[in-house]
Amino acid sequence: MSLRIGDTAPNFDADTTTGPINFHDWIGDDWAFFFSHPADFTPVCTTEMGRTSQLADQFASRGVKPIGLSTDTVEEHVKWIDDVNDTQNTNLVFPIVADATLTVAKAYDMIHPSESETAAVRSVFIIDPNKKIRLTMTYPMSVGRNFDEILRVIDALQTGDKYKIATPADWTPGDDVIIPPSVSDADAKTAFPQGFETLRPYLRTVKI
Ligand code: BEZ
Repeated sequence: MSLRIGDTAPNFDADTTTGPINFHDWIGDDWAFFFSHPADFTPVCTTEMGRTSQLADQFASRGVKPIGLSTDTVEEHVKWIDDVNDTQNTNLVFPIVADATLTVAKAYDMIHPSESETAAVRSVFIIDPNKKIRLTMTYPMSVGRNFDEILRVIDALQTGDKYKIATPADWTPGDDVIIPPSVSDADAKTAFPQGFETLRPYLRTVKI
């Protein structure tokens, strides 16, 4: 069965390009951006790995650790990282899980047999410090991911946790947010003394 939002991210021990890890221990008190890609030495994956590396400061400022996975070996990953660094003008330092046995890919339902029996599709799991899955996204092999959206959704999740709010369509940091319908007007007045706007009883927005 596929993993769902709110599930505990399956723990695993694995070899990576930065050494062996226990996944939950490696996450520690941070968040994780865990993403799979079909294979080393492929063009779309090379750009995604480069983009993730280029965004290292953006992930770090949000307390998020990136970690990749493909069903190749550490030796292949390490050789490929040289290509990523050369072609994407970066210095990739985050770990890439070596999953030649497909053990982790299967636990995370990253193998979609109609696409490939052995290569992972482009899965994304955003995992919080409690090891709960907070977001899943699955992209086809031929479509590179949008990293602005990945950072945006991390911002939305962390802002939601902090202020107990929801975020509207296309929200980006600084935009007004939504007071959930489960919060009464009386409680909203206490939580948001700056005041809020009521467009409908179920649609209340607030600046934070
Ligand atoms: C790629 O990463 O470039 C790729 C991988 C598998 C299928 C198509 C593209």
